[in-house]
Amino acid sequence: MTRFSFTVHATDGAARTGVVSTPRGQIRTPAFMPVGTAATVKAMLPENVRATGADIILGNTYHLMLRPGAERIARLGGLHRFMNWERPILTDSGGFQVMSLAGLRKLDERGVTFKSHVDGSRHELTPERSMEIQRLLGSDIVMCFDECTPFPADEATAAESMRLSMRWAARSREAFGDRPGHALFGIQQGSVFRELREESSQALRAIGFDGYAIGGLAVGEGQEAMFAVLDYAPGLLPEDKPRYLMGVGKPDDIVGAVQRGVDMFDCVLPTRSGRTGQALTRRGAVNLRNARHQDDPRPLDPDCACPCCRNYSRAYLHHVHKAQEIIAAMLLTWHNLHYYQELMQGLRDAIAAGRLDAFVADFHARRAEGDL
Ligand code: GUN
Ligand code: ZN
Repeated sequence: MTRFSFTVHATDGAARTGVVSTPRGQIRTPAFMPVGTAATVKAMLPENVRATGADIILGNTYHLMLRPGAERIARLGGLHRFMNWERPILTDSGGFQVMSLAGLRKLDERGVTFKSHVDGSRHELTPERSMEIQRLLGSDIVMCFDECTPFPADEATAAESMRLSMRWAARSREAFGDRPGHALFGIQQGSVFRELREESSQALRAIGFDGYAIGGLAVGEGQEAMFAVLDYAPGLLPEDKPRYLMGVGKPDDIVGAVQRGVDMFDCVLPTRSGRTGQALTRRGAVNLRNARHQDDPRPLDPDCACPCCRNYSRAYLHHVHKAQEIIAAMLLTWHNLHYYQELMQGLRDAIAAGRLDAFVADFHARRAEGDL
């Protein structure tokens, strides 16, 4: 049986390209994981998500435990069968979503209790219950239960929060146990404080994980502050394990993080933007709501090979978006995911060829030209 493994094939500066191997398939890195929160990548069939080039998608403990319930998904054969996605799935552990979505929350050493945003019912998440839910879902890459430290936080508050997450990481590791073919990732915290990121990395490395995430970023600190942390944070983690920057990001965030040594990403931006009429292209963002598109017979991006750009005009995309037709979300989500995956392939090829700097210079030059 294929165990979980990670092999780096080439490096260019701090950037790496390689492959994560799992029994459900390989994940080419740097990798972008489309978000499939509620057992669907919104507006996309799973086979079309795959057609954009995705090797893995992300699911959410928080949403699925509330609706339709982890035990129900387990009875129905697990999340892969339930949603018709047979390739790898990474699940987030729930704490982050409780803090951003749930009503009335109480956090203590044991875990967090909260009111469901769906029906107001009370629930508890602990490291142990989060590991159980992610096992019931059949997740391939399980995330530790953690607290995403809010931003800004003073150093004492950030230290207390990080140390709680490290105690929860030890409990997550213990509860996860030994599950060949399934991986458990630790999550580094510490806000924008270098000494705390160092302490967190040491704590996680002492426990030992199959991969390591960088958490607590993209929470309002801005790109400059995030990159300042990423100048050192990936280097604190083991070189021979995948590094995952949680919740990132915009295309230029991803490019900068890859240059700094990150291997995996997830973000709602391409899917959510697709539903609000925003296309992400190599020349930057294009808003299809804008009336300048209403008579424009040209494709969104003439250089894009996706079905949206091959078969439809800007005028059509403008129309179906304005008319709130479902196909608007389908086409723009497809394009956005295609663009993200093409960007990741470009990054992988550039790293393998040792020409990442030239690739990044070209990436920024095309964006500077703007939409034509
Ligand atoms: N998603 C974005 N940031 C975080 C984080 O710090 N922790 C978890 N669990 N999920 C996240
Ligand atoms: Zn396209």
